[in-house]
Amino acid sequence: MASLLFSSLSIKNTTLKNRIVISPMCQYSAIDGFANDWHLVHLGTRAIGGAALIIQEATAVSPEARISPSDLGIWKDEHIQKLKQINEFIISQNAVPGIQLAHAGRKASVSAPWKGNKKLDFAQGGWQTVAPSAVLYHDNEPFLPEALDKNGIQKVISDFKAATKRVVEAGYKVIEVHGAHGYLLHQFLSPLTNVRTDEYGGSFENRIRFTLEVLEAVQSEWPSELPLFLRLSATDWAEGGWNPEESVKLCKILKEKGVDLIDVTSGGLVSHQQIPVKPGYQVSFAEKIKKEANILTSAVGLITESKQAEDILENSQADLIMFARESLRNPNLPLSFAKELNDEIQWPKQYERAKIK
Ligand SMILES: Cc1cc2nc3c(=O)[nH]c(=O)nc-3n(C[C@H](O)[C@H](O)[C@H](O)COP(=O)(O)O)c2cc1C
Repeated sequence: MASLLFSSLSIKNTTLKNRIVISPMCQYSAIDGFANDWHLVHLGTRAIGGAALIIQEATAVSPEARISPSDLGIWKDEHIQKLKQINEFIISQNAVPGIQLAHAGRKASVSAPWKGNKKLDFAQGGWQTVAPSAVLYHDNEPFLPEALDKNGIQKVISDFKAATKRVVEAGYKVIEVHGAHGYLLHQFLSPLTNVRTDEYGGSFENRIRFTLEVLEAVQSEWPSELPLFLRLSATDWAEGGWNPEESVKLCKILKEKGVDLIDVTSGGLVSHQQIPVKPGYQVSFAEKIKKEANILTSAVGLITESKQAEDILENSQADLIMFARESLRNPNLPLSFAKELNDEIQWPKQYERAKIK
């Protein structure tokens, strides 16, 4: 019997040939936001490897939205050309190109992981970060984030809108807004990082306002026949933080507003989080949101084996499975998984002589 992992899924006008998605992964390899051959080969290799959807790393909507100075960006028209080339290659491999649009908020202005992931002060090429409230992530950081005023909020929203216009021009077929891992949208959602007293803070309705306004701006440019995802941390793994019940409540609203799928992850907001990491540790959140908000979900996080992924789909816990680190270890993961699940899938013709019999 054919596996569920290799069954197709249509979301609006886009058909994914299987349920395997490459999770967005920062490469810290851009200069001034520009993509280059590293990104082409990194993303292109995974398209060759058989994944249905390749979601490009957190891509900044403005220079100050970057996590590190070497993040990808889409804040100017000049960024489009190389991104378009990458997307055309992904499409030529019968895969779908997606992008994650992001703003890092108070977690911006840090060095790449291999340079220590340290807050960069202004002398080191860092920049003033922004956030819903002037609350530090780590006690030892050199400066406070600036609390966004109303104009600042409007600027970020219009940055998302302008970036989305470029996303369309660059030929992406799926857009994912980054609302997770303690970045700006998540900072507004959680009472641990949002202590505002205006209409963007306090009650649940006020804390979700910024996320809804960003999504509305994205939707004003994004073709309604193409899929729109939101990545959401279902819990902060910290007392008094954003939690699974609020996630379900938000996702019910998002479904009504036309979001197609919730990419369910967790944590990343506060340094004192306590995450019980184990295989598939976030799957139960994808299941809860799928069942209680009645919306498509993807599961991610320590999913490394074909049988594990197949079981998640069989148990109706999620609709798509995202792979990050395992796809770095094995870019041809889908080709290997198909063999393990006895599924016949098309290999790139150039690789057919290597097909394992
Ligand atoms: C190198 C690397 C870069 C990452 N960058 C991003 C990113 O840009 N956006 C994001 O939402 N998650 C990012 N993540 C998190 C992954 O998308 C994924 O959610 C996480 O690694 C758990 O999945 P895994 O166990 O399959 O690795 C990154 C992870 C890695 C390993």
